[in-house]
Amino acid sequence: MERTLSIIKPDGVARGLAGEVIKRLEQNNFKIAAMKMLRMTKSQAKGFYAVHRKRPFFESLTDFMASGSIIVMILEGENALGRYRELMGATDYREAAEGTIRKDFATDIEKNIVHGSDGPETAAFEIGYFFNSFEITG
Ligand code: CMP
Repeated sequence: MERTLSIIKPDGVARGLAGEVIKRLEQNNFKIAAMKMLRMTKSQAKGFYAVHRKRPFFESLTDFMASGSIIVMILEGENALGRYRELMGATDYREAAEGTIRKDFATDIEKNIVHGSDGPETAAFEIGYFFNSFEITG
């Protein structure tokens, strides 16, 4: 069993796509082990995306991620990391496969509806960033 962190980003929540994303997660046999809605401060967004701090899109990305409510979830299941990345589609929606969340709904490489951890170490960091042990019910 693997765990990964999923975020429905501010564009996904604002556009009313949270239900659609959660429906796809359930239909694809992900167990939601924890979930909450919150809004990050700019500094929390910078901490979350610290690995990207040298990238040219860092300021814009962290502004965007602090611009509205997000829904964070821990997804659990066999090969959860890889399966969730497949369900999301490529970061750039123009390269995402048909039927993926980003292909179906994203409008922009930054405003791409969802985030998912890119490896086991990142997943452990990201889960710990948002959840303590009492909040993980699954
Ligand atoms: P995410 O999976 O959350 O991880 C980093 C985010 O940076 C990515 O999704 C995009 O929202 C954002 N981003 C913006 N511009 C780029 C870019 N040129 N390449 C990769 N990620 C980008």
